[in-house]
Amino acid sequence: MNLKEHLQHPVFRYVQSIADNENQRAFAIGGFVRDLLLERPCKDIDIVIEGSGLALAEQVAKQMKVKKVSYFKNFGTAMFKTSDTEIEFVGARKESYQRDSRKPIVENGSIQDDQERRDFTINALAISLNGESYGELIDPFGGIEDLNNQLLRTPLDPDITYSDDPLRMMRAVRFASQLGFRIEEESMEAISRNAHRLGIVSMERISVELNKIVLSKKPSFGFKLLEKTGLLAEIFPLMLKLKGVEVREGIGHKDNFYHTLQVLDNVAEHSDDLWLRWSAILHDIAKPQTKRFEPGHGWTFHGHEDKGARMVPKIFKSLKLPLDHKMKYVQKLVLLHLRPIALTKEVITDSAVRRLLFEAGDDIDDLMTLCRADITSKNERKVKRYLSNYELVKQRLVELEEKDRIRNFQPPVSGEMIMEIFDIPPGRQIGTLKEIIKEAILEGDIPNDLESAKKLLLEEAKKMGLQAK
Ligand code: CTP
Repeated sequence: MNLKEHLQHPVFRYVQSIADNENQRAFAIGGFVRDLLLERPCKDIDIVIEGSGLALAEQVAKQMKVKKVSYFKNFGTAMFKTSDTEIEFVGARKESYQRDSRKPIVENGSIQDDQERRDFTINALAISLNGESYGELIDPFGGIEDLNNQLLRTPLDPDITYSDDPLRMMRAVRFASQLGFRIEEESMEAISRNAHRLGIVSMERISVELNKIVLSKKPSFGFKLLEKTGLLAEIFPLMLKLKGVEVREGIGHKDNFYHTLQVLDNVAEHSDDLWLRWSAILHDIAKPQTKRFEPGHGWTFHGHEDKGARMVPKIFKSLKLPLDHKMKYVQKLVLLHLRPIALTKEVITDSAVRRLLFEAGDDIDDLMTLCRADITSKNERKVKRYLSNYELVKQRLVELEEKDRIRNFQPPVSGEMIMEIFDIPPGRQIGTLKEIIKEAILEGDIPNDLESAKKLLLEEAKKMGLQAK
């Protein structure tokens, strides 16, 4: 197969002329070749030379007039950027391809040595960049066949490939989930045998792969593989506690692991937002801890939303996810995930809808997406009922937001205004008065405007013995 036509980037011709001059073989390799054949967009190009990657990068950069080149001498790699493409250069090596490892490299090798030390046959494809053979595909391990059969297979014995870099077990699941590929049976067995070795990999690297699984089209596919291979037990055992069904007095509850995955897939159909997807993963995380059986009634999970929200920081910390506003967002969604449907259990009052809008703020639409995704019962009648309730709440939210503008609402009288009107210093009275006004607006006792708020303020202040100046 010749892929000359597809080597659009100018870097390839520069590499060709330099490598030909030096009498060294050079190749495009790895993810770039895979994505080219899969017709997926790819922003990075990896180039391997049977020689010095550093020297090649230096010469190519000079000819292309690229000023900034980063050299990683310990690893024998160098890279630079051209417009939106990152190009990395490396010498072919005999040992495992561990770009993130602290271990310095390694012995120089041939292209075949380099290919066999890569993770999967589909990532070990190379395209020649030399003279006559320019554009020719080098595929010693049947990578093309595996691409066609949608199969993830290691070039060497999987026990060797995975022990060279245990992160590759996560990568196997990640590629399977992203591409919808199968993992070869032998590889599945090797991963199950070696799952515990993930312990030597940093959680930062693991969560990069985990997030790619979360962001794939049907994330449940990846999570089921993580569970089946024992990788999930290594990285996020808490999630496994959701698994299983207990039956008492003939009454069971749903398997919250599979329910969670269904909710995650449902959310994934409507949103690519990583953190909304994490909210789906964590929305029921406290169900095992809050589970009770009430005789004559059945299973309850009272307070799981509240406890779940409180568990989020620890979970984020252990998975090395960011502890900033993204975590706060997930906490908020976990905390509020029952609220929209709970509203429909009684008469839906304006004040309850207003409160929900106030608490969710700009995240109300995401909350509704999560809430919609959470309706997964097998009982069709129940689903129908929940869905029509959901639509009702949605409609009420829109109506009320138009009327009252409660989302992101700030009480119309500020602390400064109160101090100014009554000529008083900062103190507890100000907070109390602000709270009374906020409550009155949320309850619908007064409209959300300055005039009404001021009127109420004067009345309430009078009761407290305050006089306007
Ligand atoms: N590689 C490997 N083992 C690893 C990481 C990477 O063998 N643990 C090799 C693979 O050949 C891979 C190449 O290095 O194709 C580049 O790795 P990377 O850029 O991390 O991944 P890509 O395969 O390019 O995939 P993506 O861009 O989706 O991350």
